[in-house]
Amino acid sequence: MQDHYAVIGNPIAQSKSPLIHAMYAQATGQDMMYTKIEAALDGFKAEVDAFRAAGGKGLNITAPFKLDAAVYATEASPRVKLSGAANAMKFDGDQVWAENFDGVGLVHDVVHNLGVLLKGQRVLLLGAGGAARGALLPFLAQEPRELVIANRTLPKAHDLASIGAQQGRVRSSSYAELAGLNFDVVFNATSASLFGELPPVPATAFAQCELAYELAYGKGLTPFLRLAQSAGAAQLADGVGMLAEQAAEAFEWWRGVRPDTQAVIQALTVPLA
Ligand code: ATR
Repeated sequence: MQDHYAVIGNPIAQSKSPLIHAMYAQATGQDMMYTKIEAALDGFKAEVDAFRAAGGKGLNITAPFKLDAAVYATEASPRVKLSGAANAMKFDGDQVWAENFDGVGLVHDVVHNLGVLLKGQRVLLLGAGGAARGALLPFLAQEPRELVIANRTLPKAHDLASIGAQQGRVRSSSYAELAGLNFDVVFNATSASLFGELPPVPATAFAQCELAYELAYGKGLTPFLRLAQSAGAAQLADGVGMLAEQAAEAFEWWRGVRPDTQAVIQALTVPLA
């Protein structure tokens, strides 16, 4: 029987994970099956129990179940413990390993695919929700000169910055306090782009910006990227590389072989226009 993996979420029709993992499996010669599961909003545990009982080996987890997955796990990684969210699980008897590869996938994309180092740089992270939490430790591991976390609801930015304080130079900020400051790399980890909205980041943040990165994928030139472009950012990117890289991390974790991501990135790229 082929080893069975799946992505679980609600809704799930939009998920690119089956396509991505099928491409990785073919490229690396892995004999495996990867499907989609739409769980009822209160049905995550029952679906995962059933998947494991049928011999399933691992799952990717997408909205809205990333927090449920962290709770379901018996062995949560430090990144899962910090973010409270998991995007991959691996099953071994009674043990349920949980990982969060979103942040490491993002860093891998920035450093290796886009060729932008974070070490020694002034990095601005917009947002303090799940996506930003996942990025915190991987960002700090790159040793930026400083990491500033700006969020509309300031206490959430404070909390996140205090979690990272032992790991490196990190501080929280309101959007208003960003006035006049500029940064080498700016990440939009808010969900504003999903609603066609712009986080209230001042244009000056991009004046010397090497890279403006929208974590959302496939939305084209979002209001954030449009502002960054007009305000002087040298390079723009969306989350397609992050999507491909987090999947590659999970694939390697499950199968012991790391796939090349370029073909997937090419296949899924939506022009930033
Ligand atoms: P995700 O898992 O995508 O991070 P989330 O945990 O709901 O989603 O977090 C959403 C983030 O986007 C939050 O940081 C939110 O700011 P608040 O904490 O102040 O709510 C941010 N956000 C959403 N819409 C925004 C907007 N229009 N402008 C600025 N920030 C926005």
